[in-house]
Amino acid sequence: MNDKQHQVTVNFSDGVSRSFSVGEQTNILDAALAAEIPLLYQCRSGSCSSCIAQLAGGDARTRPGASSTLLASEYSAGQRLLCLCQAQSDCTFDVAYSSEVGSSTAQQVHVFVNAVERIASNVMRLTLELADGDWLEFRPGQFMQIEVPGYGVVRSYSPSSTAAQLPKLEFLVRLLPGGAMSGYLEEKATNEDVLTLSGPYGAFFLREEKRRAPHIFVAGGTGLAPILSMIDALRQGSGRKPPMLLSFGCAVPDALFCLEDIELRQQWLPSLEARICVDREPRDGLHQGSPVSALREGDVSADTVAYLCGPQPMIDAATTRLIELGANPANIFAEQFVASH
Ligand code: FES
Repeated sequence: MNDKQHQVTVNFSDGVSRSFSVGEQTNILDAALAAEIPLLYQCRSGSCSSCIAQLAGGDARTRPGASSTLLASEYSAGQRLLCLCQAQSDCTFDVAYSSEVGSSTAQQVHVFVNAVERIASNVMRLTLELADGDWLEFRPGQFMQIEVPGYGVVRSYSPSSTAAQLPKLEFLVRLLPGGAMSGYLEEKATNEDVLTLSGPYGAFFLREEKRRAPHIFVAGGTGLAPILSMIDALRQGSGRKPPMLLSFGCAVPDALFCLEDIELRQQWLPSLEARICVDREPRDGLHQGSPVSALREGDVSADTVAYLCGPQPMIDAATTRLIELGANPANIFAEQFVASH
């Protein structure tokens, strides 16, 4: 069949533009990767949002019958998942990362289990160490896939640690009844087990070029992990630290974790304010309600950069609220945290 060709241009945030041609029946991501365009992607099936791009000109549509995680409002505002998207004309996309980011490809490495520690009623801290001779780089906020030994499945987690702590990697794992990783960590994991890990993946990472702007972090549950990594990366960077607001929440006080880690960071970083939230059973010093409800007038300025990580409804509510408070939608970055069994 004759696949009519169109020219697609991708504009990266560092001013680099790359063009390639794509057939009308071909996924734009496939054509871009064949042309060695450094786009971010992971699942290639519409579920991870890594390949998100903003249509800036022309006509490109989601392939008929494909289902994606994009909200109808995001789609009508021009957002597209390139792995599901076909060009109907010549078109242009903007992506919110620089051309260097996608060039660091995922590695597969071996890691040793260093420690497994329960830190809340349903959260474990998993500390891993890269095997001798293995190495990988990642940006704060990106995620890795870990193969669960004996279960034949992989699970995605973002390190709560930073690249500066390599060869150590730390993850926060939410325990789910019947979950593969939960079963492994609770019943089988022993020190010195060797796991296979691959990464980094994802387009959710600290934007270095915006590090001087005020930051807002909104985290639900173990969505805190990539946020801690980002806060630490800002702390480890040179120069004056920006004002930072962390709004972190769990359902009940017993489910909260890493509060000491947050306090310690507040001592190190006087410009970090933390609001700890619970939906139920409020106590002194805790905000009652979601981490979104803890955001208020005066928190946001025109150049605020926001990073959101948690369940999709929290992300949607936080995005709406931040825009209402004056944030620029282009400065809001989010990653949905999906619990999988
Ligand atoms: S690569 Fe995962 S949504 Fe496109």
